[in-house]
Amino acid sequence: MLDIIQDKPQAAPREPEAPPRTGEPDLSRKGVILTYPMFRFWNKEAVDLGVKPQRLNIYVHMPYCIQRCAYCYFKTTTLKDNRLQEIDRYAASVCKELETGSQRFHLRERPVETVYFGGGTPTLLSEENIDKLFATLRENFTLDHPQITFEGEPVTLTERKAAVLQRNQVNRISLGIQSFKEEIVFQTGRRDTEEQTMKAIELAKATGAEVNVDLLSGLAGETPETWAYSVRRAIEAGVHNITLYKLELYANTPYYTSEKHNEIELPTDEEELVLIEYAHAELAKHGYRPVNAFTFTKGGAHDQLNTRSRWQGNDSYAVGVSAFGSLGTWNYQNTNDISAYVEAVERGELAAFRAYNSNTFDLAVRDAVMGIKLVRLDHLWFREKHGLDLLTVCEDELRRLVDERFVTVDDQEIALTARGLIFPDYVARRIEGAMKQFSGTGFGSRARVRF
Ligand SMILES: C[S@@+](CC[C@H](N)C(=O)[O-])C[C@H]1O[C@@H](n2cnc3c(N)ncnc32)[C@H](O)[C@@H]1O
Ligand code: SF4
Repeated sequence: MLDIIQDKPQAAPREPEAPPRTGEPDLSRKGVILTYPMFRFWNKEAVDLGVKPQRLNIYVHMPYCIQRCAYCYFKTTTLKDNRLQEIDRYAASVCKELETGSQRFHLRERPVETVYFGGGTPTLLSEENIDKLFATLRENFTLDHPQITFEGEPVTLTERKAAVLQRNQVNRISLGIQSFKEEIVFQTGRRDTEEQTMKAIELAKATGAEVNVDLLSGLAGETPETWAYSVRRAIEAGVHNITLYKLELYANTPYYTSEKHNEIELPTDEEELVLIEYAHAELAKHGYRPVNAFTFTKGGAHDQLNTRSRWQGNDSYAVGVSAFGSLGTWNYQNTNDISAYVEAVERGELAAFRAYNSNTFDLAVRDAVMGIKLVRLDHLWFREKHGLDLLTVCEDELRRLVDERFVTVDDQEIALTARGLIFPDYVARRIEGAMKQFSGTGFGSRARVRF
């Protein structure tokens, strides 16, 4: 491997050398290979690893919302037709899926590090349903002082709801704010006023939980001024985390249709870039440090542990309609249809409608691609885990990424620069491409070798 860490003058090109022949075995019928790796690499310390229960994350999807926001692409449905019974049945199915999954996949002993209630709007769940879900979790899993996150829309976080969350040891509350400017928020079909939003943040803080607020860049009507206002209000709110999402325009959203019919005007990519660069600079100025490609935390503390753990390749048991998770090499997603979901679970069947079984190389690529989105990817940890030296495997591409100021590389880490943080998925895709090319499975690899 060439030295990629320091800038050194380019050496003159050398003649290609014949591949080294050292290490080639002598021709012999002696020395049977009994096992790989050889016994001489085995040690006493590793004995415990085989019986140590592997850490686990749990994701629970709650698809109900007050309204369907014009931009939202998540699997959600509104409360329009007084669906309380339907929600009760759905919550009972989630409890059943947790219970059966714990047995089916032998999860009971595994230390649960994080539980994430996402949506939709989990804060819409009734007090009884929230209590039931937590009782089910406690009965069927080993909760190892987990970080427990509850997502919610500000208007749904009442004092009473906040108390229920506190009672159930929810220690992270994530509020979808999108914008503090009412004229922007109202255009999306939401009705959260700035006052209600601020009140919800205070209520969430008063429970003792860490508080995250989501802002969405690229909403209709957004200008540098309105965006600066939202960023400023989020910082003034003194929350632990600020998460910045870029609006993704999906064909299943009213935003998409309105844009096609010229009924709304969305910021162009160039305009959105200005917004996000501004937000990153402001957050840095006020001591918010990125812990992943989207979330900035006060002083770098208060990490979003569910994302961290999953993106480092730990298992996530996901339940609920449309939820996706992974257990070992098996990745799966539950059906998107609420009735089909409930009926499958009630019959005691898996609710998954699609899955993918990763091979060992997929797992390595996953850890590199998702790992770099955690801002710093420890390549020594990666080598220990996968037996691959990323600096060798991706040498040329990493050099280009360094030259283009997307990443820095040192003895321990590949890290996103400020510029890389603006384009995390792009950087991740380039690393993916380099790994696949190296392995002979990617686009641009040589034609299949034949003998
Ligand atoms: C699933 S929502 C849950 C939060 C809660 N229901 C709310 O909106 O108040 C989580 C976040 O996803 C983000 N989101 C929704 N639609 C999006 C889109 N089309 N592109 C990017 N992010 C989106 C929003 O920022 C939202 O706060
Ligand atoms: S943004 Fe939140 S409240 Fe709006 S539809 Fe999506 S999940 Fe529901």
